[in-house]
Amino acid sequence: MIKKKNSYVVAVVGATGAVGNEMISTLEQRNFPVEKIRLFASERSEGKDLEFHGNQIPVEALKEDSFKGIDIALFSAGAERSKIWAPVAAKSGCVVVDNSSQWRMDPEVPLVVPEVNTHDLKWHKGIIANPNCSTIQMVVVLKPIHDAAKIKRVVVTTFQSVSGTGKKAMDELLQQTTDILNFREIKCNVYPHQIAFNVLPHIDKFLENGYTKEEMKMVNETQKIIGDYSIRVTATTVRVPVFRCHSESLNIETEKKMTPDEVRAILAGAPGIIVFDAPDKNVYPLPVEIAGKDDTYVGRIREDESIENGINMWIVADNLRKGAALNAVQIAEKLIEMAD
Ligand SMILES: NC(=O)c1ccc[n+]([C@@H]2O[C@H](COP(=O)([O-])OP(=O)(O)OC[C@H]3O[C@@H](n4cnc5c(N)ncnc54)[C@H](OP(=O)(O)O)[C@@H]3O)[C@@H](O)[C@H]2O)c1
Repeated sequence: MIKKKNSYVVAVVGATGAVGNEMISTLEQRNFPVEKIRLFASERSEGKDLEFHGNQIPVEALKEDSFKGIDIALFSAGAERSKIWAPVAAKSGCVVVDNSSQWRMDPEVPLVVPEVNTHDLKWHKGIIANPNCSTIQMVVVLKPIHDAAKIKRVVVTTFQSVSGTGKKAMDELLQQTTDILNFREIKCNVYPHQIAFNVLPHIDKFLENGYTKEEMKMVNETQKIIGDYSIRVTATTVRVPVFRCHSESLNIETEKKMTPDEVRAILAGAPGIIVFDAPDKNVYPLPVEIAGKDDTYVGRIREDESIENGINMWIVADNLRKGAALNAVQIAEKLIEMAD
């Protein structure tokens, strides 16, 4: 547990990456009470400086004693690094909020979205997992609907931006786009196929059941976060040539019937959600407009006329903010609220 103080020593592990960068700016923008910030990445980045509140902070490589004196560590350096270093950090008394997939389904580790299950923070043992980006924005929307009408089944198709894969993927989309427009040959290093001007029905590894790991994360993490293993979820996850923001088409079947107006009213009153739904004025959430924003935007709310109690909608959120850095910082904010 964190001791109540006026300000805290905070570490960002993976500080040079897409999520790490966003974590640093989120801590700045939300005026998180930082006494001192420590920034970590691989040995390749040692010697680099990154800016925090106008000061140049050196990037360090991780060592056994790196976490001494650190209160909170926000990890976004991949699952392999989290597997090794999160227990080291927790052992030295700091609380880890981990963005990787390493600890999410561990029954000893809470998986938290503050709008949904802050109560699970109470039983952490030093490591708290931040869910997958496509799951976070979906559960923010599902929770208030589940509370009002009990969700039976969700069919989700995602349209996920390349920043969800990290910095190298953003560079690859830019490079391929430039090369194609200049009639040059393209190279595929990050994805197995061309991503520029294309759509890939493939995110993460394929599993024996024919789904991808990303798809199964949406199923398993949703049940764990909402705390209801009776909710049935089926997902198709798709990578699209968009730099920032994941979009999702949701089909939700509930036990109790809800009209689209009732759904709009419930979502409008729920935390972290903006209803952006006026199709007669061409108003619906778009990645280019939502990039850099904190909330999950919902539009195209309409009845599923093919079943008794069904609703369709379109949701968009910034995967680097709510899908990663912001959710982690919100968890840290809750932890210091709960400190004694
Ligand atoms: N992108 C998203 O939307 C998103 C959303 C939710 C969760 N996540 C998760 O967050 C993590 C990072 O994702 P990202 O998109 O930010 O990736 P990224 O842009 O590739 O950044 C990876 C970061 O990890 C660091 N790193 C690599 N090897 C390391 C080592 N041996 N020791 C210490 N640091 C090391 C890198 O440092 P160098 O620069 O020195 O190589 C870099 O800072 C992943 O686990 C990912 O699954 C990402």
